[in-house]
Amino acid sequence: MEAQIDLYYPEEVIERVRDANDIVEVIGQYVQLKKKGGTYFGLCPFHGEKTPSFSVSPAKQMYYCFGCGAGGNVFTFLMEYENYSFSEALKYLAQRANISLPESSGPSDGGYNAGLKEKLLEIHKKAAVFYHEKLKSEKGMQGLEYFKGKRGLSDRTIVHFGLGYSGKNSSELYNYLRSEGYDDNILSETGLVVIEERGAHDRFWNRVMFPIMDVNNRVVGFGGRVMGDGEPKYLNSPETKIFDKSKNLYGLNYARKSRKDHILLCEGYMDVIALHQYGFTNAVASLGTAFNEKHARLLKRYTNKVILTQDSDEAGIRAKLRALPILKEAGISARVLDMSPYKDPDEFLKALGPEAFNDRIMNAKNAFMYEIDILKRGYDLTDPEGKTDFYNAVAEKLCGFTEALERDNYTQTVAKEHFIPYEALKRLVNQKGLTKGLTPSTAMNPARTHEQGLRNAKPKGDTGLLKSERILLTGICERPEIYQSIKGLVEPEDFSDDLYKELAYAIFEGCEKGNLKTAALIDKYSSDEDTRKRVAAILNAKPFMAKELSESEDSEDDEDSSMHKSTEDALKRIRLNALEKKMEKAVESGDAALLQRLIEEKNGII
Ligand code: UTP
Ligand code: MN
Repeated sequence: MEAQIDLYYPEEVIERVRDANDIVEVIGQYVQLKKKGGTYFGLCPFHGEKTPSFSVSPAKQMYYCFGCGAGGNVFTFLMEYENYSFSEALKYLAQRANISLPESSGPSDGGYNAGLKEKLLEIHKKAAVFYHEKLKSEKGMQGLEYFKGKRGLSDRTIVHFGLGYSGKNSSELYNYLRSEGYDDNILSETGLVVIEERGAHDRFWNRVMFPIMDVNNRVVGFGGRVMGDGEPKYLNSPETKIFDKSKNLYGLNYARKSRKDHILLCEGYMDVIALHQYGFTNAVASLGTAFNEKHARLLKRYTNKVILTQDSDEAGIRAKLRALPILKEAGISARVLDMSPYKDPDEFLKALGPEAFNDRIMNAKNAFMYEIDILKRGYDLTDPEGKTDFYNAVAEKLCGFTEALERDNYTQTVAKEHFIPYEALKRLVNQKGLTKGLTPSTAMNPARTHEQGLRNAKPKGDTGLLKSERILLTGICERPEIYQSIKGLVEPEDFSDDLYKELAYAIFEGCEKGNLKTAALIDKYSSDEDTRKRVAAILNAKPFMAKELSESEDSEDDEDSSMHKSTEDALKRIRLNALEKKMEKAVESGDAALLQRLIEEKNGII
């Protein structure tokens, strides 16, 4: 649906906007890129990694990640990264390049076709204003009293977070939105009203309201809290077309601009708001769902360091233990803040103030050391058996470090902090390590990193037919002059897969007309993520890149000749395959003359 609507912008306009926004510059605003040969590389913003496998090709005006397969053009990058719709990406890039867009040429029925997502955002914005106005009105007194009197929020904070109030009448928002011209169909998609046969009513009433904003300050959902006791304490928007709980962190729209080198991860709305009010504008929280891999990847775009500031109760401890490995996996280093004797940041700040909290940030504990502290609570250390078990468990955990030097550093620190004799602990670790194939920590071995191991273990490039087809298509897109040397030798029909054929048609046609635009091939698939990734993979075949991934700083000339060589080999392979197919047919139909010609042609290639 979105894709169709997007096409209301004439192709020439899309093309002009694309031409005016070099993909290397645009992505360079978000990812640090380094040139290697004719391609730029950086750490992929869409998955956690420590060595760059994210590539941006100026020739093709495309990006592609060899690690996770994310790929596309300048529009889809913004759609993936900023969560924009196609037309939002187009508008943003048009503005960036000072191009004024014509009115979209879709049917002019009052913007009805503005796309479902845009429509939902528009309604959420109106709802947020509605709740906020209500809070400031006479009917909102109780809500305002709650925020200011009971929770100590300033007027400024209330405005900054757009806080609101949903009134006692259970269909106020519904009636308001209907009066604004929205029908039940679209309203039921918002999750803000519940439409049943008996009638429609608001999801939220008699609650103080927290609009949830995405990183671009667009309201995508709400949380509502009861003002006294009552269940549930917080009610949240359900997931909708614009609200994915796993991809959203409350407060990130502000935290991303806080200019601190770390982000504070806490538990709920009030913690984030209290922290921001006290100046900790780098606080975020995952809402209504546990912190997960997607959240971690989202955070990784803005920071390499996270300090866990979840509640100090059992649930908070579980939340921290769960988040630590997820953060580590995403390449984020984590520390844990000691909140004791308070339950959460809100209570802590009210009791001890921001300076004390800042001290706690400075003294936040190393993630591994925190895990050991928690582990320790499960053992009775006054009992020799309990003590032995604890030492064994510690040694076991230390074996999680595959690098000898790092493992030994931690062994020392743990021994010191928990009064365990260092030599004894080290022996235990080495013993356990042996059975896991770890190098003993006495040998100072600059062991291969895990990632190096993985990379070396990879097979040396597959030699399948599809691979050859990818190489040829990639080669032509990178260096369109290659087309002249294959012209007439290979036809789009010779490609073995429908998607490959489709791309070959488009690419060959572009070359014939002398205006091949590789990035434009992606547009058709911009809202079909799976196919888009496949297309990106087809147009980013490995051999050229494999060279660029290696450390050598080859000149573009070397790259050029190796590219020509690989495409030549690929060409041969594709032609032979096509000929063999034709020969089979000739045999079947008994056409001896044709078969003879084909055999000669084949001999010519070999
Ligand atoms: P808490 O119960 O710790 O609430 O839940 P809180 O943030 O400290 O709120 P106050 O200070 O009592 O007002 C933490 C988070 O878990 C989610 C909310 O996002 C909340 O902020 N939650 C909690 C719910 O979604 N529903 C609930 O019923 C309770
Ligand atoms: Mn709490």
